Amino acid sequence: VRTRVAIVGAGPAGLLLSHLLEQAGIESVVIDQRSRDEIESTIRAGILEQGTVELLDTIGPASRARTVGHRHDGIELRFEGEGHRIDFAASVGRAVWLYPQHEVLKDLIAARLAAGQDLRFGVTAERIENGDRPRVIARDADGAPFEIEAEFVVGSDGSRSVARAAVTGSSTGGYFREYPFAWFGVLCEAPPSSDELIYSNSPDGFALVSQRSATVQRMYFQCAPDTDTAAYSEAQLWDELQKRVPGTELKQGPIFQRDVLRFRSFVAHELRRGRVALVGDAAHTVPPTGAKGMNLAIADVRVLAKALRALLLDGEERLLDAYPETVSRRIWKAQHFSWWMTSMLHAAPDATDFDRRRQLGELRTVVESEHGRAYLAEAYCGWPLDV
Ligand code: DHB
Repeated sequence: VRTRVAIVGAGPAGLLLSHLLEQAGIESVVIDQRSRDEIESTIRAGILEQGTVELLDTIGPASRARTVGHRHDGIELRFEGEGHRIDFAASVGRAVWLYPQHEVLKDLIAARLAAGQDLRFGVTAERIENGDRPRVIARDADGAPFEIEAEFVVGSDGSRSVARAAVTGSSTGGYFREYPFAWFGVLCEAPPSSDELIYSNSPDGFALVSQRSATVQRMYFQCAPDTDTAAYSEAQLWDELQKRVPGTELKQGPIFQRDVLRFRSFVAHELRRGRVALVGDAAHTVPPTGAKGMNLAIADVRVLAKALRALLLDGEERLLDAYPETVSRRIWKAQHFSWWMTSMLHAAPDATDFDRRRQLGELRTVVESEHGRAYLAEAYCGWPLDV
């Protein structure tokens, strides 16, 4: 197959990129090794920055972020048994939307297929050959060889990216940090326990009370990275969650899904080489605290779409040359924010009494300061997309 842009990975970044390219009249082919059903049913994060919602508005009514999702004008930080509201509207006049990533994917896939996008599921990229006419060497669902020749290849194929090697020379090379904890995530059938999300620092570790709908809730608690999801009974899961959110009685209900989320910070050393560029998790990973992952992927795509427009419509390379530096500014701000929220809210296994008291001092510094609250609100709702 020949096309102008080959996009490896049909996550939020790859799908939105194909839409933005089509708006500029640039044809693309998107492949993903997963099935459509797998993509549309994998549970991921749930918070969209205001700028992400605005960009999704450009796919038209197919985006249900505003109709099915819910606007949230604040969150609560809880520590020492007391809740402190971060009022986004009052601090920065912005908001976020609670709308699960797999719903975003359903919307994007429906819109792309309706627009006639060449979108192929079950196609596994094996490697990318960089060069003037870069090629994606892949296999289809039956194992038959499949190749795409393009003018440009974009790796939007997630944290275990195959495309990364064509940019960095290795599948791993990057700035990297691990954390000595993970999140145990549950989905349960119950009404919301709180109007807004609660990020709770407790002596027993962190918990996050999030939501999905009027009848389904998403909650997480800090656990050891090697925790087995089967290790807890349902009653034990509720005990773990409840003891970390003192002051709020959690509304319990059947838990129908459990997963463990790993915590990593990663930025690839290089984000573009020749005619191949990386976006989203292929380029960087953040720990989940603060929900920056998908939003950051979408911010990359916005910058890359403009650069590809300049390259492919006007033969102008300047924006593409600037791509790594342009997106790195936001990537490292988001790296800092995600690390900061993580380190401020979790109980490190090796923390001393000094560390714990300092952490509470840090939380108090934020919630008792107009400027501290404003920094958190600004970062959480998302920095402007155009700078
Ligand atoms: C959710 C996940 C996050 O990492 C976060 O900071 C807020 C919400 C969620 O899945 O609902």
